[in-house]
Amino acid sequence: MTHIKNIGLFTSGGDAPGMNATIRAVVRAALFYDLEVTGIRRGFEGMINGDLFAMSRKTVSNIIQRGGTILKTARSEHFKTPEGRKLAFEQLQKFNVDALVAIGGDGTFAAAHIFGKEFNIPVIGLPGTIDNDLTGTDFTIGYDTAINTVMNAVDKIRDTAESHDRLFIVEVMGRDSGMIALRTGISSGAEAIVMPESKLSMDKLFDRLENGRKDKTSRIVIVSEGEGEEAGAFEVGRLVKEKFPNYDTRVSILGHIQRGGKPTCMDRVLASRVGVAAVEALMNGYRNEMVGVLNNEIAYTPLEHAIKKNTDTDATFLKIVEMLSL
Ligand code: F6P
Repeated sequence: MTHIKNIGLFTSGGDAPGMNATIRAVVRAALFYDLEVTGIRRGFEGMINGDLFAMSRKTVSNIIQRGGTILKTARSEHFKTPEGRKLAFEQLQKFNVDALVAIGGDGTFAAAHIFGKEFNIPVIGLPGTIDNDLTGTDFTIGYDTAINTVMNAVDKIRDTAESHDRLFIVEVMGRDSGMIALRTGISSGAEAIVMPESKLSMDKLFDRLENGRKDKTSRIVIVSEGEGEEAGAFEVGRLVKEKFPNYDTRVSILGHIQRGGKPTCMDRVLASRVGVAAVEALMNGYRNEMVGVLNNEIAYTPLEHAIKKNTDTDATFLKIVEMLSL
């Protein structure tokens, strides 16, 4: 057991549905164990600026069902400098914060890892990102909600695609990870998925579209935003239009709606489980670890490993899309 008295809690990077449920779980679990929680607004930026306040049971009332993050979030350039991190540490000392719980994704964990080592402060990371691209947890908080949002949107796009006999290229988020594309492609019955990990070349995509069933009246291709030359729905759409001038092709970018909305039951439960486990981990002396869930068990992964991209795409998932969309 280590003697932690006051946990600094913040959200950082892109917001994700379920961050509020995570905040609630950390605060309520800490209070249950007679620990104090100091909320830090706007992530590392707020830490530098001293935007800290004491949290109570009441400050997290009625938020489990809300999207976004009551602690707000930001991406901080200043924190990347040693001088910024020193300022942040001084603020934590001023508020007697002696441990941190950081809710975010890979950028958050990379910065938290450096900070934890530099100032010898225990840090626990909780996986809050719609991208589901972290190692050490089967799912990240926000992913389930985001994929349901995408699936419902693509169902609607299918209605209009079917009515107009159109091909739709639909872009989903995920930065350099195709996890959102993968499950939403399967669940919306897409004809093909283009994602960074699968290396589905344009030739293969053309082949899939050309040799698919001829009597199809609508086609949906899910494209992960990705990075690089042939990434992004507009570029894929341009190439498809060039190759198939006879197809009535449209491009649709789903954008930030994927980050909003009420968290699903799965996200709320995941958030509650890892929130409680984070507080217990700090009490039991864990530091610089991410708390996730693997095979339905709480799992601890060093922050520097958690940020190694989980590009381990199950090839059977892609095979399923190919088999079932014929
Ligand atoms: O990491 C979450 C995410 O939504 C990514 O999927 C996306 O690439 C990025 O954030 C967009 O960030 P921003 O809202 O800062 O443009």
